[in-house]
Amino acid sequence: MARWLASVGIRENSRVLDLGCGKGAVAIEVARATGCVVTGVDAFEPFVMSCRGLAAVKGVGSRCDFRVGLAERFRAEPFDAVVLLNLFPFERAIPIARRLVRPGGFYLIDDAVAIGTEHSSLPTAEEVGEAIGANGDRVERRKVWTRAEVRARESRNYALLRSNARALMKAAPKNRALLTECLARMKAGIADLTAEIRPACWLVRRGRR
Ligand SMILES: C[S@@+](CC[C@H](N)C(=O)[O-])C[C@H]1O[C@@H](n2cnc3c(N)ncnc32)[C@H](O)[C@@H]1O
Repeated sequence: MARWLASVGIRENSRVLDLGCGKGAVAIEVARATGCVVTGVDAFEPFVMSCRGLAAVKGVGSRCDFRVGLAERFRAEPFDAVVLLNLFPFERAIPIARRLVRPGGFYLIDDAVAIGTEHSSLPTAEEVGEAIGANGDRVERRKVWTRAEVRARESRNYALLRSNARALMKAAPKNRALLTECLARMKAGIADLTAEIRPACWLVRRGRR
């Protein structure tokens, strides 16, 4: 994500907004790698606290401003780039990003897309591209993960989650059922992402409309 943003001119003094920033992994790496100034917003206060701590540890605390808030209610001067990752479906993400990015600036969005016909409630990658173009915006970069890439990434993540879950079960056996269910859901999610839906990401230049 940081490389993509750097490739379209996000640099020192650029202003970047990360909505639903979670624990700040992307926001902090973008600040570190490009030298830009980042605002991160998340609805969950413990994540925002964690972002502030991590930004300080990574040496970018003075260029990062993390706040508790709802993405849909956030108002500010338009940014050079807006990031919305793993937050809303495309049809919700696009208007929120457009509202907060200056004309000629960039937005970065992701979600799952349908590959076959089974998940017809999800758009295909082509449909997302059309929705972006209909606003007069231009796709600069697009990535739809392949089945092999999803498998490799998710099996690494799942192994880590399973080992964390086992440690938590040992520490608090009363949570065993909850953790077992959580792992089962993760596994089902991975099966979905390697079947007829895939994660996909778009970097878009906002048009003047
Ligand atoms: C799946 S995580 C994604 C985190 C990060 N963007 C990433 O890709 O790693 C979704 C995050 O959005 C936050 N969130 C959910 N709904 C939100 C909303 N309406 N406004 C702001 N944050 C929200 C959650 O607290 C969570 O941290």
